[in-house]
Amino acid sequence: APGSALLSSPVSLLFLLRFPSATYTPRSAYPPARSFQLDYEDDCFRKDGAPFRYISGSIHYARVPRPAWRDRLLKMYMSGLSAVQVYIPWNYHEPLPGVYDFAGDRDVEAFLDLTAELGLLVILRPGPYICAEWEMGGLPAWLLWKPDIVLRSSHPAYLAAVDSWLHVLLPKIKPRLYQHGGNIISVQVENEYGSYYACDYEYLRHLLGSFRALLGTEVLLFTTDGTQVWELRCGTLQGLYATIDFGPGTPMEEEEEEERGWEGPGSVNSEYYTGWLDYWGEAHASTSSARVAQGLEDMLELGASVNMYMFHGGTNFAYWSGADFKDQYKPVTTSYDYDAPLSEAGDPTEKLFAIRTVISKFQPLPVGPMPPATPKYAYGRVHADLLDVLDVLCPSGPIQSQFPLTFEAIKQAHGFVLYRTRLPRDVLDPTTLGAPPHSVCDRGYVMLQQEYQGTLERDGQTMLRVMGREGDTLDVLLENMGRISFGANISDFKGLLGNLSLDSSPLSNWLIYPLAIDTAIQQGWPHAALPKSSSRGRAGPAFYTGTFETPGIAWDTFVKFPGWTKGQLWINGFNLGRYWPPRGPQQTLFVPGSVLHVGRPNNITVLELEGAPPTPFLLFLDQPLFNRTLTATE
Ligand SMILES: *[C@@H]1O[C@H](CO)[C@@H](O)[C@H](O)[C@H]1NC(C)=O
Ligand SMILES: *[C@@H]1O[C@H](CO)[C@@H](O)[C@H](O)[C@H]1NC(C)=O
Ligand SMILES: *[C@@H]1O[C@H](CO)[C@@H](O)[C@H](O)[C@H]1NC(C)=O
Ligand SMILES: *[C@@H]1O[C@H](CO)[C@@H](O)[C@H](O)[C@H]1NC(C)=O
Repeated sequence: APGSALLSSPVSLLFLLRFPSATYTPRSAYPPARSFQLDYEDDCFRKDGAPFRYISGSIHYARVPRPAWRDRLLKMYMSGLSAVQVYIPWNYHEPLPGVYDFAGDRDVEAFLDLTAELGLLVILRPGPYICAEWEMGGLPAWLLWKPDIVLRSSHPAYLAAVDSWLHVLLPKIKPRLYQHGGNIISVQVENEYGSYYACDYEYLRHLLGSFRALLGTEVLLFTTDGTQVWELRCGTLQGLYATIDFGPGTPMEEEEEEERGWEGPGSVNSEYYTGWLDYWGEAHASTSSARVAQGLEDMLELGASVNMYMFHGGTNFAYWSGADFKDQYKPVTTSYDYDAPLSEAGDPTEKLFAIRTVISKFQPLPVGPMPPATPKYAYGRVHADLLDVLDVLCPSGPIQSQFPLTFEAIKQAHGFVLYRTRLPRDVLDPTTLGAPPHSVCDRGYVMLQQEYQGTLERDGQTMLRVMGREGDTLDVLLENMGRISFGANISDFKGLLGNLSLDSSPLSNWLIYPLAIDTAIQQGWPHAALPKSSSRGRAGPAFYTGTFETPGIAWDTFVKFPGWTKGQLWINGFNLGRYWPPRGPQQTLFVPGSVLHVGRPNNITVLELEGAPPTPFLLFLDQPLFNRTLTATE
């Protein structure tokens, strides 16, 4: 019998001796079947039957370049974490209905393989809505092709899209569940649904059914909500374990603890905030290490399981940053540093070491040194030539429309659309060119006869004074600054949502150019086919190019924009995101070394939207800069 074979093996004997004899029976000597469960009676998690608590950290693979995945995960492991918590952004993987992308930086399975290889467990948060300050909370913008859709509800068009996505995604997840030999211990359903106005239980029940059908009945499913009773009311569902999220310094009165279900070892804080996000135009948020470490220690002493949000924030590359709506539209910066323990560039901070010291009081740290900060390099100045061709970026040609159409109506998800028309009459005195309030989503750069006139802004200036002749060309370049990721307004349509009027009379006969700027730049434009240099000034939307050499090794670096105003940066075709130093607080963009070439020139392309400096150059620094920081200490 297997039992006697087991007893005759010295290795197994050691194994047996570690068990208290009172609980020993021959059958329990077998390693129990892989299981991860919640023990409601004893109020704790059980992994393979034994009480278990996790200390976890959030990392978003979509905010970290793939070549850096291993480095960041290794540093998390070396910090003493037993698990990582991972969001899957739906819109990152299904760019168009039924078109899926799991390649390169989007290879979520390769990322999960790495977590397993490094011995980390995974708490998976596959949405379909994730918030995460990510564009539209992870929902694809194409959902808004049906303008009446009710997002995050049991609206049939929404559910149909969700179901077909889950049927693609969850089968990739199932074999990675802990019960099936993988490292995913639990899976979150939706995200902070209790904060959403719809409060549609049908929707949560539908999701629960789909998750159960596609992942099986053994997996531990859970929800995450804020700590308020009203948030838990709509966010939780019978059959789903309810976890909560709150940051350091949240007062923890005894009755409150009970009300929140925050009582003991079975308690989970799914988002313990190590820092906070930044908005353009506000101070860089920071939270003191001492405060974060103390709050963590308090929770661990209660026996709770904790996930630190974020452990490594990373970067909102390209157009992926989201926005919030609090009295007005508030776009999130390109950096998602979050003042997290691992910096945007993946360097261990003082906060990481403070956290690691706390963890060491509760569980052993892995043996070995923390990998050091990656070397950074200051590359010096780069000069750039002016280019100003926009039309070539729309190979499909313009769409004609009597009145403006939204991005969604012309099926452009991100980036830029150019709206062009002609003045219907002579305008010899300064005359108002304007749009209804909140209808320019989100910024419109206005040119008349190719002369930059100024910028219209969603919750800011909505009119300009212009003069011109009948037939003069009027261009408005519309920029999507990121769709709202949280709250009631996540159906965040982009473009000109109303009419642009001249002296209150709507302009008509528009040519609408959806711009495929990234496609052109990835194909080598404008470096491979230099458009002729413009003789115009340095105001208004224009491209600037340059090259620079990387000496020896391609280190990570930070690029600063002296005298530049607002725009987008690409290096070797990789979209590094938006820069906007006059708004701040972010003054530099993170450039991962992995996008740089060694031994051949690196191509820089800048799309400056408002105004470039007289001598355009970029500065490469070895650290990030913020022009204003606010630190929460008490
Ligand atoms: C979006 O925000 C505006 C302004 O606060 C509000 O009037 C409107 O009702 C919101 N939209 C939805 C769908 O709730
Ligand atoms: C634009 O103006 C036209 C003509 O007045 C009107 O029919 C149309 O509804 C307006 N569009 C919007 C979005 O207001
Ligand atoms: C960089 O520019 C050169 C021309 O100077 C071009 O041949 C090459 O395709 C460009 N590479 C990238 C990655 O854009
Ligand atoms: C950061 O930059 C913006 C734009 O120049 C400015 O409004 C803000 O005051 C700056 N903050 C500091 C502290 O310099």
